[in-house]
Amino acid sequence: MTQYDKLLSAHAGEVFIDGEWRQAKSGKAIDVINPSDGECIGEVAASGADDVNDAVEAAAAAMRRASSGGWTPAMRQDALLSLARAIDDNAEELAQLEMIDAGKPIRNVRFLDVPQSAAGLRYFAGWATKLSGETMELSVPGDWHACTVREPVGVVGQIIPWNYPLMGAAMKIGPALAAGCAVILKPAEQTSLSALRLAELIRQCGFPAGMVNILPGYGADAGAALVAHPDVAKIAFTGSTATGRVILRDASAHLKRVTVELGGKSPVIVMPDANIEEAARAIAMGIFFNSGQTCSAGSRLLVHASVVKDVVARVAEIASSMAMGAPSDPATALGPVISQAQQDRIFAYVDRAVAEGARCVVGGQRPSGAGFFVPPTVLTDMHADMEAVREEIFGPVLSVLTFDTTDLDAIADLANDNDYGLAAYVWTNSVSHGLGLVKRLRAGTVRVNTSGGNDFVLPAGGMKQSGNGRENGRAGVEAYTELKAVTIAL
Ligand code: NAI
Ligand code: MG
Repeated sequence: MTQYDKLLSAHAGEVFIDGEWRQAKSGKAIDVINPSDGECIGEVAASGADDVNDAVEAAAAAMRRASSGGWTPAMRQDALLSLARAIDDNAEELAQLEMIDAGKPIRNVRFLDVPQSAAGLRYFAGWATKLSGETMELSVPGDWHACTVREPVGVVGQIIPWNYPLMGAAMKIGPALAAGCAVILKPAEQTSLSALRLAELIRQCGFPAGMVNILPGYGADAGAALVAHPDVAKIAFTGSTATGRVILRDASAHLKRVTVELGGKSPVIVMPDANIEEAARAIAMGIFFNSGQTCSAGSRLLVHASVVKDVVARVAEIASSMAMGAPSDPATALGPVISQAQQDRIFAYVDRAVAEGARCVVGGQRPSGAGFFVPPTVLTDMHADMEAVREEIFGPVLSVLTFDTTDLDAIADLANDNDYGLAAYVWTNSVSHGLGLVKRLRAGTVRVNTSGGNDFVLPAGGMKQSGNGRENGRAGVEAYTELKAVTIAL
């Protein structure tokens, strides 16, 4: 029996509520699709509003019990650390589940998704025991004691996408649990398997019943019910800008706290003095890794005209050499994208760009055979108002624009000429160019001479239509708290 058969038959129709597995009241199911061949390998429960109600009730009860001291910061830390250890102990099994469900190359999941999920939980475990308020001296005369108390915000609904299912789950529940919140996590309908396995592990790791609830389901049913529920104090969402807008609107009915981490069209600026070989390798990695399904992917290459030929030729060469194929093959660098819908959407963007006059230097052709594959694609001869330059494609497609100046204001204007503001990348050997652009770029994350360096110690989030709020780092944990101001007349 394969890992996924075991998991699917153990939890057919089940959701994880109040520390136990229950049949979903909705009675509905979601097909589990393997993106590498398009085959349906089983089904999982599709939770509905009744299941969400039960989960919220269990979570609220867990928080009430916790408030009487039964769930101390040290206990939260220990439980998160044991969950991290459980992920390490079951790493290969989680990697196999993630590979089948999301179509990710096995070598990437082994190297990134699984170990980083454990590492992230360890990082957040440390915060549980380090949150604190402050004491202040009041301005008004008198004999006072004044301080702030940091409290968990309450029951939290967390809605995540399909591009990093396990890591997305770990990085969402970690800070919320560290802060003392109870969570209801809804994985994306395309990728429920690693979240279900995570629920099994959570059950063994000393979390109080109801502190973590995991409800697979569709956005329009389970997701919308979480957003609408009056007893959910906060929604943390990662996904499309369109859905983020709907969630912000609907959450305003109860003035819920909302953090939304949305899309991007992140610019990569290559100055004439950059190390071209290093830049090209990082640019290729930045847009082709995970088949371009990364919110912070550098998808808009802005390169100085004097070096554009070299940079594009080198990126195209790397693209042509990337092994695309079966995710289970350790040699595979590029797997399929998540679904037929995403594959169609990506090719439609490429086809329209070409029809508008763009040139496809490499890729762009739909491969024959089964599975939702998209070859690494580089588009040149573009202009700034083309759709493929402005919109998030969320596939392995790089759009190239050139500039012919070293004026930093002009270059930053070009980079900032977009609705999104998630990340930006700069390649230069000049400190003045690098820091000068860091200052001018409107993005939540700016990286110089690297496309990596993503780390949970750093706050991540978007400016403009890439979202609001920050995740990760101290800011990401504090976002799951409320500050209470306390004044005592002595
Ligand atoms: P989506 O934003 O609709 O889905 C993300 C999550 O939101 C899923 O869990 C889904 O079930 C849930 N959801 C959907 N509608 C909801 C609603 N009304 N209320 C509550 N939850 C809801 O994204 P989708 O359709 O899967 O992908 C479309 C595009 O979104 C992609 O092509 C890409 O451009 C972008 N995207 C961006 C991501 C990022 O990391 N920033 C991740 C995934 C998608
Ligand atoms: Mg799947």
